[in-house]
Amino acid sequence: MRDLREDIAHVLIDEAQLTARIQELATQIDDDTAGIDDLLLICVLKGGYMFLADLSRALTRPHSIDFMGISSYGKGITSSGAVQIIMDLKAPLDGRHVLIVEDIIDSGRTLDYMRRNLMSRAPASLRICSLLNKPSRREIEVPVDYVGFDIPDEFVVGYGLDFNELYRNLPFIAVLKPELFAHLVG
Ligand code: IMP
Ligand code: MG
Repeated sequence: MRDLREDIAHVLIDEAQLTARIQELATQIDDDTAGIDDLLLICVLKGGYMFLADLSRALTRPHSIDFMGISSYGKGITSSGAVQIIMDLKAPLDGRHVLIVEDIIDSGRTLDYMRRNLMSRAPASLRICSLLNKPSRREIEVPVDYVGFDIPDEFVVGYGLDFNELYRNLPFIAVLKPELFAHLVG
């Protein structure tokens, strides 16, 4: 059987670091949302699912959750540039206090699109939380309220993030061996 861990060059953020930082984010979000008892976490699928599960458990603020399927990457490691909703929210947002929960902000296209799309639905407030941030890759400025970790310009997998749909289940954030995607670059 193929062991996906053999494809890893190095672990960038381990489980203990993820747990500790997510607890800090949750404490900060709890503080910032005092007085809000109908917070809505919107998980950006697929990459945000593991972060959402841990962040949701770390929050003490009462909240509900919803999911939005967004596609911006084709296969491989470069963005297609076009952002598409492939699964929409179940409920309207008007009057809701919303927190977008995303795995990573790279060019900013996905979150910029999501922010504009959700703002048009008249939420009472809209905050953005991204576990990872690659500041050096930004093409569109997006106001992100909460960032877990700034990371260098390296393609990462694990903890929800994939390469060609694999590696999402790894419980840490890791960099793949370059030979796995060298043929896709350039
Ligand atoms: P952006 O639209 O360029 O900001 O890209 C955001 C999306 O691209 C994320 O939601 C991820 O799905 C994907 N993405 C960006 N960088 C990485 C990475 O290093 N590993 C895996 N997916 C990534
Ligand atoms: Mg994503």
